Amino acid sequence: MKTIVVTGGAGFIGTNFVYYLLSKTKDYRLVVFDKLTYAGNLYSLRDALRAKRVVFVKGDIAEPRNVRALFLRHQPALVFNFAAESHVDRSIEGAGDFVRTNLTGTFQMLEGARAFYNQLKPEDRRQFRFLHVSTDEVYGSLGKTGAFSENTSYAPNSPYAATKAGADHLVRAYHETYGLPTLITNCSNNYGPFQFPEKLIPLMVLNALEGKALPVYGDGKNVRDWLYVEDHCSAIWRVMNKGRIGEKYNIGGNTERNNLQVLQTLCRQLERFRPAAKNPAILKLGLKNYGQLVKFVKDRPGHDRRYAINSTKIKKELGWKPKYNFDSGMEKTVQWYLSRVDWCEKVQSGKYHRERLGLISRRSK
Ligand SMILES: NC(=O)c1ccc[n+]([C@@H]2O[C@H](COP(=O)([O-])OP(=O)(O)OC[C@H]3O[C@@H](n4cnc5c(N)ncnc54)[C@H](O)[C@@H]3O)[C@@H](O)[C@H]2O)c1
Repeated sequence: MKTIVVTGGAGFIGTNFVYYLLSKTKDYRLVVFDKLTYAGNLYSLRDALRAKRVVFVKGDIAEPRNVRALFLRHQPALVFNFAAESHVDRSIEGAGDFVRTNLTGTFQMLEGARAFYNQLKPEDRRQFRFLHVSTDEVYGSLGKTGAFSENTSYAPNSPYAATKAGADHLVRAYHETYGLPTLITNCSNNYGPFQFPEKLIPLMVLNALEGKALPVYGDGKNVRDWLYVEDHCSAIWRVMNKGRIGEKYNIGGNTERNNLQVLQTLCRQLERFRPAAKNPAILKLGLKNYGQLVKFVKDRPGHDRRYAINSTKIKKELGWKPKYNFDSGMEKTVQWYLSRVDWCEKVQSGKYHRERLGLISRRSK
C-alpha cells in the first residue's frame, strides 16, 4: 500500500480531506501529521481513526527532527501540506506562530521532502508529489471588478497572508531550483463541517442558537468567494492526480457574497431547521428572528475589501467543477452544526470562547 501524508489533518480542511480520501480511495495508507494546536482536534478524526489504514502522528512541521522521522518512517508517495496557522485575527494579535509554522514549517517540509526524494528509486520519484495548500489571500484585495488569476502579483495585506505568500514562493523555488515535484493550490474561503468556531460561519451559527450577538465587522460589505469544503477537497485531489508539476491552480466557487448576504442565507437555513419562534434563547430576548441579533462592530485592521477567484485554469485543464452552490452548501453546513453538538462542545472546551480577536488596540503578544 502506498502512503499519503496529510499535515494539519486534524484541522478544518485537513479533517474533511481525510474523510474525502477515505471515501474516494481504497489503496492508500493515510498518515495524519499534526501538532494539535488549539485548531486541531483528534475528536474530529474519531471515526477516521477507526480505519486500519489511518495513522495519526503527533508532530511539528517546523521541527526538522519530527519532519525527518516522518519521511523516513512512513516513506510517502504523496504529501499534502495543510498545516498552518490560519486565522487572520490571530495573526494581527501576534505573528510569531505564523512565521514559525507557515514559513519555517513549510521550509522544513520542503527540506524533508527534498532529502527523501533524492534517495528514491527512479520509478518512485516519478510518482512522488508535494502539494502545498494555500489561499487566495496572498493576492491582496480587489476593487469592485476583476478576479485573481494564477498570474496575479502577490500583495498580501495581513501577517497571515504574508506568511502564506512566502511559503508559496519557497515551494515554487524548490521546484525551480531542486526539481522537487511540487504543486500549489490557492483557494478562496471555505465553509462546512469541523470548522473551529472562531471563523465566521460556525461562529454565527453557534451564537445565533444561543441568542448571542452576531458581530459584523465594519459595514458588512466585505466580499469573499465562498466554497463548500468538500469541493475544495475534490479540487485538491484532482490537482494532485492530474495537475502539471511545478504549476499552481486557483480554486473558487464563483460565489461572491458579502458578509451580510452570508448572514441572510445562514439565518434562513437556521430558521428552516431551528425556528427562532421556538428557540427559548431568542424568545427570552423578546426577538422574532435570528437577523435581529446582527450587531455592527469595529472593522478588522487592514480588512481586505473583496476577493474573487478566476478558476478557469483548473476547470479547463483538469475538468474540475464544484458540486455545491451556496444554498446547498449552507444547508448541509447548518444541519451538520445542529447535529454535532458533541463536537461543538468538545472543541470549545479550551481557552477560546468566541471572543473578538485582532484589534490592534489590544496589547500584542
Ligand atoms: N479555511 C479556509 O477558508 C482556507 C482557504 C484557503 C486555504 N486555506 C489553507 O488551508 C490549510 C488548512 O486550513 P484550515 O482552515 O483547515 O486551518 P485550521 O487552522 O483549521 O487547521 C490547521 C491545522 O494545522 C495544525 N498545525 C498548526 N501548526 C502546526 C505545526 N507547526 N505542525 C503541524 N501541524 C500544525 C493545527 O493543529 C490544525 O490541525 C491552511 O494552510 C490554510 O492556509 C484555508
